[in-house]
Amino acid sequence: MAQLKMYWLKGTPIADLTLPEGYTLVNYKECIEDKIAWVECCKNGLVGDDCVPEFFDECVADVDDRVPENDVFFLDHNGEHIGTIAAIYHPEEKEGQVHMVGIRTDYRGKGLGKYINNIAVKKLAAQGAEYMYLTTDEWRMGAVKSYLTAGFIPVEYDEGMKERWEWMMAQLGVDELDMVYEDRSFCRKLYKAKTIKIGVVGVGRGRDMIRYCRSVKGAELVAICDSYAPLLEKAKRDFADGDITFYDNYDEFLNHGMDAVVLANFATRHTPLAIKALEKGINVISEVLPVQTMKEAVELVEAVEKSGKKYFYAENYCYMASTRTMKSLYEEGVLGEFEYGEGEYMHNCEPDWSNLTFGDPNHWRNLMHACYYCTHSIGPLIHITGLKPVKVSGFEVPFNARMKRMGAKAGPIGIEMITLENGAILKSIHGVGPARNSIWYSLYGSKGRMESSREDEENGAFHNLIVNCDENEGDNKNAPEKVSTSDHLTRLAEMAGHGGADYYVMHHVCESLRGNENADVIDLYEALDMFLPGMFAYFSVLEGGIPMEIPDLRKPEEREKWRNDTRCTDPEVAGDMLIPGYSKGNPEIPDEVYEYHKKTFLEKLANK
Ligand SMILES: NC(=O)c1ccc[n+]([C@@H]2O[C@H](COP(=O)([O-])OP(=O)(O)OC[C@H]3O[C@@H](n4cnc5c(N)ncnc54)[C@H](O)[C@@H]3O)[C@@H](O)[C@H]2O)c1
Repeated sequence: MAQLKMYWLKGTPIADLTLPEGYTLVNYKECIEDKIAWVECCKNGLVGDDCVPEFFDECVADVDDRVPENDVFFLDHNGEHIGTIAAIYHPEEKEGQVHMVGIRTDYRGKGLGKYINNIAVKKLAAQGAEYMYLTTDEWRMGAVKSYLTAGFIPVEYDEGMKERWEWMMAQLGVDELDMVYEDRSFCRKLYKAKTIKIGVVGVGRGRDMIRYCRSVKGAELVAICDSYAPLLEKAKRDFADGDITFYDNYDEFLNHGMDAVVLANFATRHTPLAIKALEKGINVISEVLPVQTMKEAVELVEAVEKSGKKYFYAENYCYMASTRTMKSLYEEGVLGEFEYGEGEYMHNCEPDWSNLTFGDPNHWRNLMHACYYCTHSIGPLIHITGLKPVKVSGFEVPFNARMKRMGAKAGPIGIEMITLENGAILKSIHGVGPARNSIWYSLYGSKGRMESSREDEENGAFHNLIVNCDENEGDNKNAPEKVSTSDHLTRLAEMAGHGGADYYVMHHVCESLRGNENADVIDLYEALDMFLPGMFAYFSVLEGGIPMEIPDLRKPEEREKWRNDTRCTDPEVAGDMLIPGYSKGNPEIPDEVYEYHKKTFLEKLANK
């Protein structure tokens, strides 16, 4: 992904700033001490922690036309170099280059950037520069602000620059800017991206979404809703610092005024809440799962189509560093024709089960069949390849002692073998009751394989990506390569914590709501491509594992057949079509199990 580029054009007013008291400006001297100080100023942004002083020679002393002693400056405080900038004049092009602008970490946030930029601009203008250029990144928010203050403006030179800049302007609170082409001619006026107002329902997992709404600054969290008083009260305390209104009633919450609602309520009850929001003209961001019956699937598809509003499926595993990069590589043709893939989401939830289910025997997590919670394992494979599932056979690992201790009336692991529209096969395996965790994706194509690392390799290994693909089909070189998975948002997403995937979900949703057609989002049809294989896998399990065809509700003629199909494991929704959470009949669980979980949950809540 290209960096952001900025130009300063001749004629732009130059401020005459005086350095704050105690600060002085000095030129670089050719010595090891200055190289060490330069590295310290550039750390935590421009260079890695392991950067050696000699990198100065590669990075600055090697640039055409440079004279380091004239072109590299230090800002000093108390006799120490605490900031640096390089201002190099290229006489042939009458061009100024602003390069390696860094402030030592302990001096950041003091507004010192504007002084060193001012020094560079004055120097280059005096040398006769017709224009000056620099490159930067989204996550250097403070630096970009200081470049704008110094008179630098955005340059249009690569795909997506307009949207990236509009988004930056929203972050920085800048209303309007001129943008120029690389030849310095006027391109367009830029206006800051619209702030997207978001409400969140459900404050369990919803707490993560609340954090991401608040860290993606173009999004504004305006309202929170939860019908469970103790958790709502806790949310009021935890999020008291924002301008947020709290509700215990979903209908009242929907009247608050918002662009989109995040549904982080019970996983099996998203559809009725989604339909209500769509009917009110509110866009929907749904946590997993999208629906729990075919009846709901038909109703939701029709509600989205009728409303003209957007539905986003927040399948965050599609946005992990490895899966996100696999998608771009696949779209570039690196893998060739997709042939086989595996997705794993194995999560031993026993240690958290009291907290997750509140000791409620009828909590959705205790009633759901093992195959239903399938979109973390299937979703990335569907999203990467863009292929539709057509057929599935399902399997279920037998109920075990762990599930009994948890009080979950289902097998611990569900497995789906899925045929895609091009004949390729997927294996998806997932569960809340395995003994160990694993998040892992592997894709085979006509040119090779790409896969993330296994979780056991090291903590967070699923962010790593190994690509072993030939340039031409048939080369058979077998040369695995660890590939970089970072892009222009990685640093910002990392700062927001949690591996960054949720940050990307929210970022792309906001971009899509602002009209960016290149935003990477998952619509309802694709969400059903990720979920229906799991639901039909269970129907397959119930019939001894025979293959089941997966409906495609994009086609209106397919909908009639399913309109009244309420088969599911939730008694309140299934009516007379209730099926057990475990294919061999709901296991018997003693009451004491739930009493234990309830007590543990309430004790933990009281201590928080
Ligand atoms: N993508 C992920 O990584 C991830 C991780 C965890 C959970 N989830 C999903 O997030 C969602 C929530 O999970 P959870 O573990 O927090 O579930 P949960 O059952 O613990 O909590 C749901 C919350 O929603 C509230 N709620 C339910 N119905 C409501 C209504 N009508 N009005 C107001 N509040 C209501 C409940 O009181 C509860 O606090 C689920 O869909 C789950 O699948 C996703």
